[in-house]
Amino acid sequence: MAPTLAVTFAGLRFENPFLLSSAPPTESDANIMRAFDAGWGGVVTKTIGLHPVVNVDGPKTKFLRATPDSPKISMQKRPGTALHSSWNWELISDKPLDWWVPRISKIKKAYPQRILVASIMAGSGSDDELRNWQKLATACQAEGADALELNLSCPHMDRKDMGSNIGKDQGLISIVTEVVKEVSKVPVWAKLTPSTTDIVEEARAAFLGGADAITSSNTFPSIPLIDPETLEFEMNVDGYVSSGGLGGPAILPQSLAKMAQMTQALPDHNFSGIGGIAEFGQALNYFLLGCGTTQVCTAAMLDHAIGPNIIKSLTEGMRRFMDAKGYSTLEDFRGMRRDRVVSHSKIRRPDAKAYHGGYETEGYAAPTGTPDR
Ligand SMILES: Cc1cc2nc3c(=O)[nH]c(=O)nc-3n(C[C@H](O)[C@H](O)[C@H](O)COP(=O)(O)O)c2cc1C
Repeated sequence: MAPTLAVTFAGLRFENPFLLSSAPPTESDANIMRAFDAGWGGVVTKTIGLHPVVNVDGPKTKFLRATPDSPKISMQKRPGTALHSSWNWELISDKPLDWWVPRISKIKKAYPQRILVASIMAGSGSDDELRNWQKLATACQAEGADALELNLSCPHMDRKDMGSNIGKDQGLISIVTEVVKEVSKVPVWAKLTPSTTDIVEEARAAFLGGADAITSSNTFPSIPLIDPETLEFEMNVDGYVSSGGLGGPAILPQSLAKMAQMTQALPDHNFSGIGGIAEFGQALNYFLLGCGTTQVCTAAMLDHAIGPNIIKSLTEGMRRFMDAKGYSTLEDFRGMRRDRVVSHSKIRRPDAKAYHGGYETEGYAAPTGTPDR
């Protein structure tokens, strides 16, 4: 049978399992429609809030590049470099809900078969603010959004009850998810922050609140490098920086580690993987760990703003891979390597008898019951 790239994820049918994630590539109706024309199976809108936001006075995103055969990494533009990561301190959409509402329905009317996920975000410090989540959810689904993605992960919020600060609080994760589920008629995905000790706990909290899927990762907290000549941060406003988010190739292994933890602990749930994907081999990592869809931001930003070449290479790569391996659908290989991530002591040693898992004679830790020396 000829392979199909189509997948069903959290109850929705996608032409292919590749989505543009919530970010600059999805900040307008024009971009989203170009993305569908280019072949993306789904699009998550730039995060929509109730009120307009004001971004910093200067660039919101830059790219850190590595010089081959040299240890240098820098945001300075120079020839012959390779992408290391993106760094951003961009807030959510600077367009309010009223701007988005007619555009969501326009996009869905033009592309009824494509999946449009509305990313939404509000505060969580009071009942009124929790109702704002419901207002955003009902407005977006009424216009035809196929699913809602709760932004519990934006790393730039000062407020303790917003963005990744919700994603660090298991109680708030459950409450916000439950409040949205009370009014939602479409699937609800929770986008988690990677910036917690054990992301399985936050994933459990989202599923407890009724989430239909988890999206991970948002960007990792980080700051720009200091230029050794000028002694200024490579990206700053009046010399100042705040913590921002790292994306792109540098976060691929870190994001995979978070995903492996969640898919192992909760193998029967739906996961959408993001972080450092630019070609099929990288998306494949997420699929083999158990994800049912994947999302892309940094690579698309650098490819005509919405990634026409990236989506072409992802779909062609997947088709070639499935042909070569004789697979018919993603389900034939999804999760195939989920159980290969094990605890350190399960990894074979040249001499198994000499290994004590950090106990007894190896000296990493005192054996149970023996006082520390
Ligand atoms: C400039 C920029 C803006 C972003 N804005 C949002 C946003 O509004 N909402 C959101 O959920 N994630 C946002 N993200 C995070 C991305 O959707 C994605 O999770 C992250 O960049 C990791 O994917 P990547 O490695 O493909 O870039 C943003 C990322 C960047 C670089």
